[in-house]
Amino acid sequence: MNLTEFSKSAGAAVGMNVDTITVRGGKALRGRIQMKGAKNLVTKAMVAALLGEGPSELRSVPEISDVRVVQGLLELHGVTVRREGDTLHLDPANVRTAHETSINAHAGSSRIPILFCGPLLHQLGEAFIPDLGGCHIGDRPIDFHLEVLRNFGAVVEKLPSGIRMTAPNGLHGAKIHLPYPSVGATEQVLLGAVRARGRTELTGAAVEPEILDLIAILQKMGAEIQVDTDRTIRIEGVDKLVGYSHTALFDRNETASWACAALATGGDVFLEGARQPEMTTFLNVFRKAGGAFDIQDDGIRFWHPGGDLKPVVVETDVHPGFMTDWQQPLVVALAKANGISIVHETVYEQRFGFTEALVEMGAYIQIHTDCLGSHACRFGQRNYEHSAVIAGPVELHGADITVPDLRGGFSHLVAALTATGTSRISNVGIIARGYERFVEKLETLGADFDVEG
Ligand code: EPU
Repeated sequence: MNLTEFSKSAGAAVGMNVDTITVRGGKALRGRIQMKGAKNLVTKAMVAALLGEGPSELRSVPEISDVRVVQGLLELHGVTVRREGDTLHLDPANVRTAHETSINAHAGSSRIPILFCGPLLHQLGEAFIPDLGGCHIGDRPIDFHLEVLRNFGAVVEKLPSGIRMTAPNGLHGAKIHLPYPSVGATEQVLLGAVRARGRTELTGAAVEPEILDLIAILQKMGAEIQVDTDRTIRIEGVDKLVGYSHTALFDRNETASWACAALATGGDVFLEGARQPEMTTFLNVFRKAGGAFDIQDDGIRFWHPGGDLKPVVVETDVHPGFMTDWQQPLVVALAKANGISIVHETVYEQRFGFTEALVEMGAYIQIHTDCLGSHACRFGQRNYEHSAVIAGPVELHGADITVPDLRGGFSHLVAALTATGTSRISNVGIIARGYERFVEKLETLGADFDVEG
C-alpha cells in the first residue's frame, strides 16, 4: 500500500471521505474542544482485554483509525468488540487463532500487532504478526520485543509473510533489561509477564503515564505489578485475570498539538479533559515560548497572550522528559518566535523530515547531525540528522503539502493555519490515525478551510 492509499484507508476507517484540505491561513483558533483517551493507551488497553476471562469495558475511546485497526485484529481473533458512544465493550470469550492471510490484510497499518504476541501465546499457545506499520520516523526495529518474548520462552520464527511464535511449554517469568526505556517493549513485558509462570523483573523500563495507566488496568484485572523508583518493574505472574472497567487517560499528544496550534495562530482554546500532572513538562516549555495557560478542573485553557513568542531550547526524551510527539507542532510556533530555538530529538533518529515542508513555506530551519543539546544522545556519532535550529520570526506562506506521518502531518496543518495565503494539504487521512474528528474540531475552532474528496 502506498502512502496515499494508506491515508485514504485510515480516513475511511473513521468515516472520513476527504483526503485533501485547502486551508486559508491567518485565522486564530478559538473555542472549546474535547480531548479523549490517549491513542497510545487505548490501543494497548484493547489488547489487554484478550487476557481477561470475562468482558472488559473501556471508556473515553476516541474515533481514530488506529483503534479501528486494533478492533479489526481483535475481531479476527474471535473477540467481540462493540462500541456504544465512547465506550468499547470487549468480550474475549471465544478467542481463536486467526488465518495468516486475514491478519496480513492489516500489514503495515499499525505497530500494535506486536503487542498481541504475549496475550495470544497465553490464550492459544501461538501467535502470528504481519509486517508492522506506524510512522516512518526512523528504523523502528522490534529487536527488544523479540528478545523479551524469547526470554519468556517463546519460539520465534521469521517468515517472509511475518513472524510466527509458539510457546510449547507456556510462558515463564524472566529477568529482563531494556537497553533503552522503550514504551512498546515495556508494554510487551507487562502483557507477557502478568500471566507467565513465576516472577518477572524488568529493569530499564519506560514509565510514561500511558504505561502506568496500562498497569492500573492490569491491576484491576488481578495482576500483581510493582513499579520501583529506579525504572524497575516487578511482576508476579497469576493464573487467571478477569475483565476490567476503566476510563482511559486523556491524550497528552492531542493536547500538546492543539495547544501549539493555538499558540502559533495567536488563538485561545479550551481543551476539555486535559490534566496538569501529565503535562507539566510541556506546560513549562509552552510558557517559556511565550504561551499562557490556565488549569481548570475540567480541562486546560491555552492561549497566546500577545507580544512576541520566545525562542526555546528543548530536548525530547522519555518520561518525564519532553515527549518526542510534542516537538512537531511546537516547531511551527518556534518558527514564529523572535530568536533562535534548538530542538534536540533523542528518541527517534529521523524525526525532522516534516520540516522540509515548513522550509518550503518560508521557515528558517537547519537540521544537524550533532547533538545540539546539554547531553550527547545515542544518535550523536552516527550521522543522524536529529537536531534542529529554528530561526525566527518568519511569516509562513501557503504551499502544497503532502502529509508524511501522523505528528508531522498535524504540524503541517498548524503551519497552514498560520500562513498567509492558501495551502493545499493532501493525505490528511493519516492524521485520522491519532486525532479524533480533527476536521470538525477545526471547524469548531473557526479555521477557514474546504475539504476535497
Ligand atoms: N527501539 C528499538 N528496538 C525496539 C523497540 C524500540 O531500538 O525493539 C527504539 C526505537 O527505534 C526508538 C526508541 O527505542 O528509537 C523508542 O521507541 P519506543 O519503543 O519507546 O516507541 P514505540 O513504543 O514504538 C510509542 C508510541 C510513539 C511514541 C513513542 C515514544 C505507540 C503506539 N507509539 O512508540 O507514538 O513516539 O512510544 O513515546 O504507543 C505517535 O503517537 O505518533 C507515536 C509515534
